[in-house]
Amino acid sequence: MAEEERKLSSKQKSRRNFLGRSLTAAGAAIAAPTLLNGCQEQSTPEQANQDSTTEPPLDGETTITLTINGQSQTLNVEPRVTLLDALRERLGLPGSKKGCDHGQCGACTVLIDNQRVYSCLTLAVMQEEKNITTIEGLADGDNLHPIQAAFIDNDGLQCGYCTPGQICASVALLDEVENGSVSSITPDLNNPPQLAELSEAEIKERLSGNLCRCSAYNGIVAAVQQATGQTPLSPA
Ligand code: FES
Ligand code: FES
Repeated sequence: MAEEERKLSSKQKSRRNFLGRSLTAAGAAIAAPTLLNGCQEQSTPEQANQDSTTEPPLDGETTITLTINGQSQTLNVEPRVTLLDALRERLGLPGSKKGCDHGQCGACTVLIDNQRVYSCLTLAVMQEEKNITTIEGLADGDNLHPIQAAFIDNDGLQCGYCTPGQICASVALLDEVENGSVSSITPDLNNPPQLAELSEAEIKERLSGNLCRCSAYNGIVAAVQQATGQTPLSPA
């Protein structure tokens, strides 16, 4: 497909997705499970493979193979393309959101080799040989990831735009605590907190890279508390 046709096709898809989101915004609460997997834009595995290609790259492009949610996908991209744009515009995975595109909001957070990364700040061509997990890859079939379920249980979302990033960051947070990671407010750096005793302040600090315009923070913290095995302290 010629480059101009591909760009036009991407714009048409983006517009359709935007209209779809707008029309369904009022039903966001009812659609929460779908929303947690990437809003109304969620793609099927067939769609997710839409840009796997064996075509030769155009001038200025390079061919890369990425492993995303356990699937290997080959595509031609210019070296300047961010991972976020590759996911959203080229690979049919729009669950990761573009809030600021400048590393300020966390809406684009994905997991790369189990570590949280702002996908707007890293290039797609840098991610070969790595395992990328997006919000679309967290659930096991119809079974939500425990963090996804906890967000629903605790009303950890309102409009849902920040939610995929919040959930990916929360998944990473749990891994980091289990692996003995400290934060900037951990009182004793030689005594990292355990999940069962992770304080509300620690959770807030460790999620401070993910902003929520709806200010659903109480529910988000409560969701993480539930996922750690604690009884959520904040009212849902
Ligand atoms: S879109 Fe990446 S940090 Fe805001
Ligand atoms: S739920 Fe709306 S931005 Fe967070």
